[in-house]
Amino acid sequence: MLENIEFIKSVYLIKDLPKASKPEVILCGRSNVGKSSLINSLFNRKNLAKTSSTPGKTRSINYYEVDRKFFLVDLPGFGYAKISKKERLHWALLIESYLAESRNVSLAFHLIDSRHKPTELDLKLHELLEYYRMSYSIILTKIDKLNQSQLAKVKRDITEIFPGLDIGYNLFAYSSVKGTGKKLIIQKLASIY
Ligand code: GTP
Ligand code: MG
Repeated sequence: MLENIEFIKSVYLIKDLPKASKPEVILCGRSNVGKSSLINSLFNRKNLAKTSSTPGKTRSINYYEVDRKFFLVDLPGFGYAKISKKERLHWALLIESYLAESRNVSLAFHLIDSRHKPTELDLKLHELLEYYRMSYSIILTKIDKLNQSQLAKVKRDITEIFPGLDIGYNLFAYSSVKGTGKKLIIQKLASIY
């Protein structure tokens, strides 16, 4: 279970999505929220997915294959201000058309930085995931930055904003640095096949 991960390809245009049909688990959320770090830490790989403290590191849809069973898909982050309008539009279109294709998305992980309130764009993304009837989970990231009572409050607040979230089922709290929450996320991934 979650033993082998292999980089397949980076996609910049929808027409270049892999032809192979496998279940897909997608990682989406704001730029810098920790999507690429999640991949590395789940598989104990330091630099498989490129990460950066500068937002906007991942600019393509990156496909990984796990245990030859499903694709793990690292989507480019949104909300990064320091890029040209043209490039931002390209990103938005790429992600929307990716979701619209809906292909074989078995699960969408929407990552939200536990230190920050969900933004307008998080609400938009949530709407999109609901609109396309995706099965989604929210992962609160970087929880190593919070103490227990702060974390408890964040969990309460997030379930108010997005009703219907259940901790351990479709709401997770994670630290890529410490590995906190890893077991539950791996269990969730295991449930798709
Ligand atoms: P884009 O590719 O720009 O969309 O960003 P991303 O969501 O892939 O974020 P990335 O994984 O590159 O992480 C951004 C920054 O946050 C890096 O400096 C990471 O080291 C840091 N980071 C990620 N996860 C954690 C975490 O769990 N705890 C802490 N303290 N820092 C983290
Ligand atoms: Mg990234």
